Amino acid sequence: MHQASHIGLIGLGVMGRNLALNMADHGFTVTATDPWPEARQSLVTELANYSQPERIRITPGVAELVAALPAPRNILLLVKAGATVDSLIAQLTLLLEPGDTLIDSGNSFYRDTMRRESELADQGFHFIGLGISGGEEGARRGPAMMAGGDAAAYARIKPVLETIAAHYGDSPCCARVGRNGAGHFVKMVHNGIEYGIMQLLAEAYLLLRDLGGLDHGRMAATFRAWNNTELASYLIEITAEILDKQDDLTGAPLVEMILDQAQQKGTGRWTSEAALEFGIPTPTLSEAVFGRALSALKAERLAAADMLSGPSPVPLKTDSAAFIESIRQALLGSIISCYAQGLALIEAAGRELDWQIELATVAGLWRAGCIIRADLLARVMNAYQTPGQSGNLLCTSEFAQLLATIQPGWRETAALAVTGGIPVPGLLSALAYFDGLRQPRSAANLIQAQRDYFGAHTYERTDRNGVFHTEWSQL
Ligand code: 6PG
Repeated sequence: MHQASHIGLIGLGVMGRNLALNMADHGFTVTATDPWPEARQSLVTELANYSQPERIRITPGVAELVAALPAPRNILLLVKAGATVDSLIAQLTLLLEPGDTLIDSGNSFYRDTMRRESELADQGFHFIGLGISGGEEGARRGPAMMAGGDAAAYARIKPVLETIAAHYGDSPCCARVGRNGAGHFVKMVHNGIEYGIMQLLAEAYLLLRDLGGLDHGRMAATFRAWNNTELASYLIEITAEILDKQDDLTGAPLVEMILDQAQQKGTGRWTSEAALEFGIPTPTLSEAVFGRALSALKAERLAAADMLSGPSPVPLKTDSAAFIESIRQALLGSIISCYAQGLALIEAAGRELDWQIELATVAGLWRAGCIIRADLLARVMNAYQTPGQSGNLLCTSEFAQLLATIQPGWRETAALAVTGGIPVPGLLSALAYFDGLRQPRSAANLIQAQRDYFGAHTYERTDRNGVFHTEWSQL
């Protein structure tokens, strides 16, 4: 049997168990363990009803797992990101042999992955940072996977990963996108875009409900109809299902019974922090993080609702079909703007950290299996595969044309939301990004003048080279 077909797996939470079963489904042999006896027992229980139980061996500990695997070993780690990964690596390095590969499949911070890769390389081990998306179902049936690490180590694990991955047509949604932290960086930005799109969908729901006066059945039908347009995607599909769900306890739409405070585990915040660090604007991805933060301030919002006056949304008495189409256009433009922001960040980080990430490959990986999977991503991939097309997604000829056609609805929706007092920071920031990008001359000249006025920070001129300072004050 091919060496790569015998895999080690540490961490038997639901993701680990599902990945082990997914690998076994495809004929691979897995040796798995978890420090918690309960987690090992869960897999034993699942194997009782599994058709090929002999393909998964469970060892009581990490030492037995390492001993059971032929060298060079490939061991997937599916443990909580952070200190747990470091302590597991410390334990494993005492047991491994040079040439073995560890594959960290959690949502690890890409800088940690870069550090771990370098520390392990010094000891003769390979390390792959593997971003996995698609949740529990994805792990079981086919996730999208974004790998970073050295090419030779990836080549050894590639037959397994690309077989168990989601497929778009014949193409596996799994690839090595660059060295060391590149895979985890791309997964992090995937999550940043995920936050952005979720915020935009929440805003569309607010507009349909409070400005359009649609009930939940009609909102669900609207999202279902949108799923047959350019918006077709997993997140649109699940939003339709969510809006249709009744609460068993009250009979009300379940979504209205859920507390309006969004939680977060941190990957969206990391994306915005990276954007600040690399100096790349990702306003919509960041507004989504701030949107969750504002939602969490429930007590403050309740107090402010009594203090702050403003328009209360009054359902429109306009033609609702035209209104709904405007929101669809606004959503489409804003989602494309999210992709553009996230891909620009990947491009910039890849350039700075010498990862040579191909944006067409990234968009291709996201076409199936992951949470942001969407029909549009095939068009994003095509846009970057077209000879001569590079740079910002909004400026590729395909998307520039599409954005020209949907702009009226996008602007109309933004204006209606502002006039009606409906908070839509995602939608407005996405439009402002588009408008900011198409400004041949921004207003930053005034900012430069102000900096020079109060701090003698100097400025450059449009008509000659050099650095200038003006004594601005007449006093
Ligand atoms: C995925 C998801 C996954 C996870 C998010 C949730 O790609 O499968 O993005 O990684 O569900 O991290 O993140 P929050 O808890 O921060 O919303």
